[in-house]
Amino acid sequence: MPTPLPISGRPIRLGVVGLGQISELVLPTYARPEIEVIGLCDLDPARQQRWGRVFPNALRTADLAELLRTDADVIDVLVPTPAHGAVVTQVLEAGFHVQVQKPIARSLEDADAMLAVAGGTGATLRVLEDYLFYPPLVQLHDVLESGELGPPTGVHMKIVNTGRGGWDIPESSFRWQFEQARDGRGMLVFDHGWHQLAIAHWLFGPIRRIFGWIGSTQVAPDIAPDITLDAPSTLVWEHDNGVRATLDILPAPDTYFRSDYYTGDERVEVTGTHGFVRCNRISARGIQEPSVVLYRDGETRSFHALDDAPPDAFAASAAHGVATFRDPDVAPLLDGDTAGAILTALLTALESSARGQPLDVPRD
Ligand SMILES: NC(=O)c1ccc[n+]([C@@H]2O[C@H](COP(=O)([O-])OP(=O)(O)OC[C@H]3O[C@@H](n4cnc5c(N)ncnc54)[C@H](O)[C@@H]3O)[C@@H](O)[C@H]2O)c1
Repeated sequence: MPTPLPISGRPIRLGVVGLGQISELVLPTYARPEIEVIGLCDLDPARQQRWGRVFPNALRTADLAELLRTDADVIDVLVPTPAHGAVVTQVLEAGFHVQVQKPIARSLEDADAMLAVAGGTGATLRVLEDYLFYPPLVQLHDVLESGELGPPTGVHMKIVNTGRGGWDIPESSFRWQFEQARDGRGMLVFDHGWHQLAIAHWLFGPIRRIFGWIGSTQVAPDIAPDITLDAPSTLVWEHDNGVRATLDILPAPDTYFRSDYYTGDERVEVTGTHGFVRCNRISARGIQEPSVVLYRDGETRSFHALDDAPPDAFAASAAHGVATFRDPDVAPLLDGDTAGAILTALLTALESSARGQPLDVPRD
């Protein structure tokens, strides 16, 4: 059975399975007194060594079953999305709490299986969605909550995918993404667009109807004509509360954006009855404008001093994770059921694109 919560009087014992690219942002946030990293699992010994140097007392293994024989309280699942279903289910069945990277799963069947096991053991299933902790988006959320802009009426979001700037990502991190894209779950709409749907759900609640219009662009037509990106794409949807949303995902492969992490230009602009509030960047540094700007009644207000780099979001997410397991009054910001609703909306958008018509998002 999972460790009874809350955990108090000692650090949370954490194991991690999957030590690839995203661990570069997740694992540094675990070097804190409330967490003891006791196990590191990856099929690749080089990745075990890389993180074993940071957490020298942790077990290193390529065998998940060995990690699951430790006395960890929580297991972080950072393996490729297509493996989430099998790995998370195995971890839950072994009696651990779980934190899993977004998207919760590649299919509703996988997500439902996880939720059923978590429900049976009473485990906490927390989906790691750093965008909900990104300080400029938290500021935007707070502005809307304050009522200063009146009731929200709509949101415009944009992802511009660039091929230049940011960190060097190993080819292996792309391989499973292109494999996963073969059945329509592309890197830009499914893997990245998940973040934007999660933001929308967090701000405005459930999505009732959605339309996806998903395009395709060859990445390197001369040498690999069969490798395509799922853009230009547009998603349009409506929330239960009437707020309408547009997400444009555009390829701009020759555009340079400065970034120490993932690159690309992302914007989120919410219009209310009295004005708008806009988040000007998320992954990349963008152009040098304040990360959040608000307009109301002929005046603008800018937020210049927010912590607005990706590690700030991951640090805040880790702090909330600690609170989730230590404070009985704190629940996951993105729990399994909510993540399941986001996945349902996203998969409905893919289906609507294939059918060429907007669709109602199914409900349980
Ligand atoms: N929050 C974000 O902004 C963000 C960004 C990137 C990726 N992600 C998510 O993080 C997850 C991982 O993505 P990534 O880019 O780090 O992938 P990656 O390919 O870089 O790393 C995956 C790692 O998992 C290991 N692995 C695979 N199967 C395993 C198994 N059965 N047991 C042990 N180790 C195994 C691989 O050896 C590899 O080191 C995905 O779900 C992805 O969507 C989130």
